[in-house]
Amino acid sequence: MTEIRVYDDAAALAERAAELVIETAREAAIERGGFTWALAGGSTPEKTYSLLAEPERAAQIDWNRTFVFFGDERFVPLDHPDSNYGMAQRAMLGKVPLLEGNVHPVPTHLPSPEAAADAYADTLGESFVSDEIPRFDLILLGLGDDGHTASLFPGQPALNVVDRWVTSSPPGVLPPPVERITLTFPVLNAARRVAFLVAGEKKAAVVRDILGGSTTPATHPAAGVRPAHGELIWLLDAAAAKLWRGMECA
Ligand code: 6PG
Repeated sequence: MTEIRVYDDAAALAERAAELVIETAREAAIERGGFTWALAGGSTPEKTYSLLAEPERAAQIDWNRTFVFFGDERFVPLDHPDSNYGMAQRAMLGKVPLLEGNVHPVPTHLPSPEAAADAYADTLGESFVSDEIPRFDLILLGLGDDGHTASLFPGQPALNVVDRWVTSSPPGVLPPPVERITLTFPVLNAARRVAFLVAGEKKAAVVRDILGGSTTPATHPAAGVRPAHGELIWLLDAAAAKLWRGMECA
């Protein structure tokens, strides 16, 4: 099931995204005793993370039963300006009462992106012990204007990795030009709920192409995100949605 919602602007999108996280966390805690969440990187989700760090929202999440992972990471130190962990830490993780052991950054201190990917897969295996494949309650994703998501870039070998949960990827064409580590399609598509957060006019053409069904995962990896037994939600602002037909005003 795919849900597409359009919001007036990036602020309204971020507010809805924060509500979605809170709703999913509550459902997961009730149904399974814990909430497993893979964060998106880049700039779009930062506002959502900041909103969730605000006391009245943070109080709505049981952080003791929240387990945070990353959909992808740049192969840089965690305190590097380009680190997705660093962004999330500044915006939210360092401001909410998460148990330290419940946050799982990608181990980018290891000697290579491949070693970091292998170690992260081991972390997933230790955390999702009852799953044949890690099944996240929620995976947040962004969308690059080249159609990439997480660090699954057009034409790259990582798109074809289906026998591993995490893989490394050479730099995409978009900044920053650093090696990446990313969850693979099998894990993205095993999730109970996947939500794309997409804002801004520069994404309008790629949103039109992907939601219009005229693309393939090889050229537009985000088109390959189709949870087999989960929900797919696109949260767009009006600028990102302006070229796409069928806009459903939120
Ligand atoms: C990353 C992200 C990446 C991001 C998109 C959109 O590590 O860069 O995971 O997939 O979500 O590039 O980025 P913006 O939100 O900054 O447009």
